[in-house]
Amino acid sequence: MKIVNLLETQQTRDSDENERFAEDIKAGLSSTPKSIPTKYFYDETGSILFQKITGHADYYLTQAEFNILDSIKHELAKIIDSDEIDIIELGAGDGHKTELIIQGFIESGKKVNFYPIDISEKAMQQLEEGLQKHDALSIHGIIAEYFSGLSYVRQHSNNHQLVLFLGSNIGNFSKTQSKEFLLHIRDILSDGDYALIGFDLKKDIPTLVKAYNDSAGYTSDFNLNLLTRINRELGGEFMLEHFQHYGNYNPVLGAMESFLISRKEQDVYIANIDQTVHFDAFEPIHLEYSFKYLKTDIDDLCYYTGFHPIKHFTDDHERFVDSLWQIKSGGND
Ligand code: AVJ
Repeated sequence: MKIVNLLETQQTRDSDENERFAEDIKAGLSSTPKSIPTKYFYDETGSILFQKITGHADYYLTQAEFNILDSIKHELAKIIDSDEIDIIELGAGDGHKTELIIQGFIESGKKVNFYPIDISEKAMQQLEEGLQKHDALSIHGIIAEYFSGLSYVRQHSNNHQLVLFLGSNIGNFSKTQSKEFLLHIRDILSDGDYALIGFDLKKDIPTLVKAYNDSAGYTSDFNLNLLTRINRELGGEFMLEHFQHYGNYNPVLGAMESFLISRKEQDVYIANIDQTVHFDAFEPIHLEYSFKYLKTDIDDLCYYTGFHPIKHFTDDHERFVDSLWQIKSGGND
């Protein structure tokens, strides 16, 4: 695997990251309601816990998407009909799902250039180790933020490109943020390029609630790990047993929301921001939105952001959609 690094050195990044973490925690815990930005879930322990969540049957999303991709991989290679293709994945992921898509193209006799874009070199290397080698596959890791990585890849290749944004990662964005994100991607890509985006569908609420309250307690550990991270990296004094995970569906927003709830009135000191944070009994910290979609919401988003919808691919239980979009000159008429 060739690796291109578009970020500054690891060391400057680590110290910048620690400062930004401190600022974000200070701001988040002094606002009403209290909140912590979603991106801080994924330290080493958080990434391992997230993998455990995705392997648990209660979190149906991963298996549903895996089934979709497995059943459409050859059809996808037929629709996107060029001898050589660039597959660009936003976020390195764990590779199992991407592997299916790559397989589909290779088994259809096409050459694949795979460009995972991620800010973590480690995640990238793990991804590469998990992928099966093949003469028709070359892997180019891009260590970068999504947009600059995508611009870089678009400028350095003349192939048709397929951008993958899988796993309902888009669910963490509000509807407005999703529009801005996709408009930006559309701007970077060229005529004829494709995007395949994974959306979790709206469904009966108990199924949703179970997915974010798995019976093994991984989701609870995943959320509480944020407090462990604050303790370790910012000198916090959170007692984990004094907080409780709470995940629920907000039908007005159309999103799962997760919180940590303070089990009692308490004060928590955080050394690096030199602040004592007061919690009322049963006060929440908001951690995450996971937005759910109707197929019509997905179409609206597609048209709004200037893409052309090619096809929704769904699983047998209609739980999840991978939606294939294309950029066509002249926009949507
Ligand atoms: C990684 C954003 C797709 O929202 O479903 C899983 C993260 N949080 N369980 C999601 C998550 C709790 C996940 N995404």
